[in-house]
Amino acid sequence: MQDQPLHEPQFALHVEDLTVTYGAQPALWDIDLDIPPGVMAAVVGPNGSGKSTLLKSVLGLIRPVAGHVRIFGRPIAQGRGRVGYVPQRSAVDWDFPTTVLDVVTMGLYARIGWLRRPGRAHRDQAMAALAELGMQDFADRQISQLSGGQQQRVFIARALVQQADLYLLDEPLAAVDATTERIIMDLLKRLRDQGRTIVVVHHDLTTVRRYFDWMVMLNVRIIGQGPVAQVFTAENLRAAYGGQLALIEGGAVDPADPHP
Ligand SMILES: Nc1ncnc2c1ncn2[C@@H]1O[C@H](COP(=O)(O)OP(=O)(O)O)[C@@H](O)[C@H]1O
Ligand SMILES: [Mg+2]
Repeated sequence: MQDQPLHEPQFALHVEDLTVTYGAQPALWDIDLDIPPGVMAAVVGPNGSGKSTLLKSVLGLIRPVAGHVRIFGRPIAQGRGRVGYVPQRSAVDWDFPTTVLDVVTMGLYARIGWLRRPGRAHRDQAMAALAELGMQDFADRQISQLSGGQQQRVFIARALVQQADLYLLDEPLAAVDATTERIIMDLLKRLRDQGRTIVVVHHDLTTVRRYFDWMVMLNVRIIGQGPVAQVFTAENLRAAYGGQLALIEGGAVDPADPHP
């Protein structure tokens, strides 16, 4: 494949004029988005605001009606190999008969090739990733026999072995136990501190300030993007959540409080 000239290579992720529709209904409308390298970014917005659609568009899983994406300056086809993706849990078939170790090893196939058998070194890499998530003792279990939080950790281990530079995670903390949440966030912080870029669809407004340094607020359109302190404002929350804001103002989050 001929390399195209780099476009906006200073950003880990650059999205320009992106519009995505399902039928006549726009899911994303004229999105302009820049994520600098080395940040831990939360993508926040109400249900149905296009968060999952945004991640899928970045991966090229959905064809937009307009706009384009650049990953470290390159078009999707050339940049995708640097991206690790953890889909929303509800989008995965957990009854698929396969072991934990096999699921993680699948993350290596892009590098070892689908037609070659994984060897000892690959198995060791997969085991090391499982250990980072506290799941090494579950390697031979069927994936269907794990709790939701354990399944989520296995899927993150699969993304980890890809040694990506940009990680996209779709609600990795939804319906997981407190131990899993801590293990996942500790790992993501370590990756961020190594210079990787982490983009997390995040549903819990009470932990945005604690966990993230960058924020994208979305509701079909971009409401705000930038450092959390600039974007996590009452005005933006009202614009993104509208009528649902009563819920937020009911005590869950006070955007004026720097340490909720
Ligand atoms: N495959 C699909 N076909 C039709 N509509 C879809 C499809 N996927 C998502 N949508 C719709 O697009 C909108 C955005 O969905 P999604 O990106 O999943 O939102 P979020 O992840 O923020 O909850 C929603 O209204 C949803 O119903
Ligand atoms: Mg979603």
